[in-house]
Amino acid sequence: MKVDLTGPLFDALEKSKKDFRVETGAGNTEGAKKKARDCAALLHQLAKNSPEQRQGYLEKALHWERISEGEISPPRRQKAVPGKVTSAKTHAAVSGDLEEEILEKAEGMISVSPVRWSDIGGLDTVKRLMMETVVIAGLQKPESIRPWKGVLLFGPPGTGKTLIAAAAAGSLNATFYDVKADRILSKYFGESSKLISGLYESARRHSPAIVFMDEFDSLTQARGENTGEATRKVLSTILTELDGLQDKKSVDLLLTLAATNTPWDLDNAVLSRFPRRVYVTLPDKKACGDIIRIQMEGLDISRLKLDVIAGECVSGRYSGRDIVNVCQQATWNMINEENRDLHLLADLPFDELKKRCLKVRPLMRSDFTGALEKIRSPVTEDDLEHYEQWNSEYGES
Ligand SMILES: Nc1ncnc2c1ncn2[C@@H]1O[C@H](COP(=O)(O)OP(=O)(O)OP(=O)(O)O)[C@@H](O)[C@H]1O
Ligand SMILES: [Mg+2]
Repeated sequence: MKVDLTGPLFDALEKSKKDFRVETGAGNTEGAKKKARDCAALLHQLAKNSPEQRQGYLEKALHWERISEGEISPPRRQKAVPGKVTSAKTHAAVSGDLEEEILEKAEGMISVSPVRWSDIGGLDTVKRLMMETVVIAGLQKPESIRPWKGVLLFGPPGTGKTLIAAAAAGSLNATFYDVKADRILSKYFGESSKLISGLYESARRHSPAIVFMDEFDSLTQARGENTGEATRKVLSTILTELDGLQDKKSVDLLLTLAATNTPWDLDNAVLSRFPRRVYVTLPDKKACGDIIRIQMEGLDISRLKLDVIAGECVSGRYSGRDIVNVCQQATWNMINEENRDLHLLADLPFDELKKRCLKVRPLMRSDFTGALEKIRSPVTEDDLEHYEQWNSEYGES
């Protein structure tokens, strides 16, 4: 017979959370970390016991693990008012817990960005625009000069939109909220629009912060006729938050970056909140060369005619992602040729493997040939024309 353990586990989790708050309140960091570890362990057990909610519990467990490792700070609670009794107190405690729960979920979207501007090949104008945006937000300035609050990045798939958002956060050491539409709208999060408010509340507390909304079109198509109330509410909450932020001067940097492949799907209400609309183009010849250099760091590419390969990437309408794939394929070709019996080493213990070296040689044109033939860009000339047209009508001048 299967025994349902979730009830006792929940009780234990609530107790550990309470103990954690007591330790945090008393300034006992080590004690609080231990309690955070207990919370994570209990959430792992809950995940095992409730397969249908496994993902949600695991995300929460990860969040507590990060608190226990000091990577993120615990959610701040409203101070309890001593001496107040019964229903008001109970109500405050309940709404405080809800708020904390939402903040916890929002903070689960924080990701650490190791990306720097130097990891991006080409896109010089886009990089400059983004750097300016970030610098203006940070500098002291007259009150009437308001920094940009929302920037829309649009362009074909794989051109580096996510990379740019990550570099903006990484270079600034800003808190980076990586928000995916499907996560926001997923069942687990339930109260999606509350989550958006929680997200911005958390971002204000952890500023400088960058909120990156990927696949933004799928959130905004929510305004179509066939979409549910919940999704419509999510979008209006985002718009309200973007409006509201204009006036909150205390926040030093809270930038919302939205990315989309289909900017023409965004309606005017949405576009008006993103006055800066930046076209992230396919890489030109120089940028293709830069991306290959970044990708092949540590390998000898001195024998390649990089400008010839870069020219082929341009005529194939390759995105940065396509070029990365070409480079990986070429590297594999070289490794396979130099290490023909690689698979025979699979029986060796890992410690033995660590003592041996993979054989490498300078990359040759022939390593690239197959890859360049195989990888096809999904972007057509018509697509590019569509982007150009939209850019000239609505984009950054
Ligand atoms: N300009 C670039 N410089 C260096 N690497 C790049 C560049 N553009 C793309 N890449 C590589 O391609 C990968 C995919 O890029 P990224 O995820 O930023 O594209 P995207 O524009 O967000 O695509 P999508 O629209 O599909 O979300 C990156 O992780 C990186 O390895
Ligand atoms: Mg992306």
